[in-house]
Amino acid sequence: MAVRTVLRMGEPCLLAKAEPVTAFDTPILHQLIKDLEDTMQEMNGAGIAASQIGVSLRVVIFGQKESTTINPRYPDADVVPYTVLINPVLAFVGDEIENGWEGCLSVPGMRGIVPRRLRLHYTGFDQYGNKVDRLVSGFHARVVQHECDHLDGVLYPMRISNLKDFGYSDVFFPNQDIQDD
Ligand code: NI
Repeated sequence: MAVRTVLRMGEPCLLAKAEPVTAFDTPILHQLIKDLEDTMQEMNGAGIAASQIGVSLRVVIFGQKESTTINPRYPDADVVPYTVLINPVLAFVGDEIENGWEGCLSVPGMRGIVPRRLRLHYTGFDQYGNKVDRLVSGFHARVVQHECDHLDGVLYPMRISNLKDFGYSDVFFPNQDIQDD
């Protein structure tokens, strides 16, 4: 198990545009995915991008492996299937926008309301080079947009339309046992 240190907002790597992956099914790529998995699981993240552990490649993982497991950070969220997404391409479907709460392992202890596109068609590859192709909406679409933003150096606070909607998790949600992520 290799839980890696998650970089926090302010690190230049989080603002960089990540490079595409050019070789699939390699030991180094499998190790990266394993490290991302271990780190996401340890920190109860809904997703994580490679840039968050200092690897500037277009690789994200998100979702939950077991549908019965409730993510303590997003207890009310729809279950998103565990997905490895490499070199993603996003295409918005329709123009509906939905506001929703987000947090980020790189912005610990904070939450903000972020407008995201409601529907999304995304494509990319898994670590073996198999094509991923999905039409999604709601929380699933939100997670993908959040994670893929990381690949272009965008953190969710940059997307908040009203900074009054940005603050500390335990202030916004005093009665919920949200850990300081
Ligand atoms: Ni994030």
